[in-house]
Amino acid sequence: MRQIKIFDTTLRDGEQSAGVNLNFSEKMEIAKQLERLNVDIIEAGFPAASKGDFFSVQQIAQTIRNSSVTGLARSVYSDIDAAWEALKDGAEPRLHVFIATSPIHREFKLKQSKEQVIETAVECVKYAAKKFPIVQWSAEDACRTELPYLAAIIEEVIQAGAHVINIPDTVGYISPKEYGEIFQYLKNNVPSIDKVALSTHCHDDLGMAIANSLAAVENGATQVEGTINGIGERAGNAALEELAVALHIRKDHYQAKTRLHLKEISRTSSLVSKLTGMVVPANKAIVGRNAFAHESGIHQDGVLKEVTTYEIISPDLVGFHSNSMVLGKHSGRHAFRNRLNELGLSVPDEDINQLFVVFKDLADKKKEMTDDDLAAIVLEEKLSK
Ligand code: KIV
Ligand code: ZN
Repeated sequence: MRQIKIFDTTLRDGEQSAGVNLNFSEKMEIAKQLERLNVDIIEAGFPAASKGDFFSVQQIAQTIRNSSVTGLARSVYSDIDAAWEALKDGAEPRLHVFIATSPIHREFKLKQSKEQVIETAVECVKYAAKKFPIVQWSAEDACRTELPYLAAIIEEVIQAGAHVINIPDTVGYISPKEYGEIFQYLKNNVPSIDKVALSTHCHDDLGMAIANSLAAVENGATQVEGTINGIGERAGNAALEELAVALHIRKDHYQAKTRLHLKEISRTSSLVSKLTGMVVPANKAIVGRNAFAHESGIHQDGVLKEVTTYEIISPDLVGFHSNSMVLGKHSGRHAFRNRLNELGLSVPDEDINQLFVVFKDLADKKKEMTDDDLAAIVLEEKLSK
């Protein structure tokens, strides 16, 4: 089994979600929970961005001992200096330095030639490697970069001292097959590639962040980047809880494992949702309110007979107490009777059919049947006798 490192950027890329602004104590609370979740790397912020970000990154680096803390820097010396000042007392100081490599970004944003971008990247990685024991280098918009150029700049930054090479799909543009092919191309065309770890960082603009990240793992990535609940710029980043659980549930396929304490997932998700104000959609994989809820009679009957008929993930695995049988118009007799028993509303067998008819009539008019509705049905039936 290959060991896959989890790089959490909830506090950096996640905080870049429109409308999200975490204060220092909120960031610290999230960082401590990420440490409990046992993520390998916490990207705590962008130290050069503001005094507040610098302070948060510094305090988090000084507090967190069981995860490596990193901070983002543009390819300018002053950003790298700020990051070093913020991170130097960390358990394992690590820099995340990036530069855009795609033609669109080179021409319109950086206004630099291919050669100038290589020169800047190399100078900055050399500069950073003199201070930091671990330097991660990212090719922003890697997936829209000419592959021979991407391979060339990666070889240069490895020679300059980078330890981790990240291939971001900055605008969520790539497809899983293409992304896997980029990793294969780099493995075949970057002579020093075996000296570094390859990382994946996917955005979800086309809803493919998870599929793309997993394709990268299948093609050699040993680090996956993402955020809790998938928050982040625009449509967000790959949701780490989804990646970790997919790797766990399908370990037969991926032949890979992470260090995450999966049971901490539900707590981490609720905390991030509460502090960022980003509501988790009910149907969100792993952590949505409906992720372990069964509504239709066929599914409820199956789950009551053998849970694995319709549940591939045990709620307990990710820290939820149990699944739930939501009673509504699609529910069957089996789940209805089961819920009555759970509520201690014992009903003789001969009355169940009649009660079930009343239940269905009412369920047709309501979205969801509550326990109070069930109690009322049973009470009315008793009174009518
Ligand atoms: O999406 C991206 O390209 C980034 C980089 C800064 C790594 O977040
Ligand atoms: Zn990003």
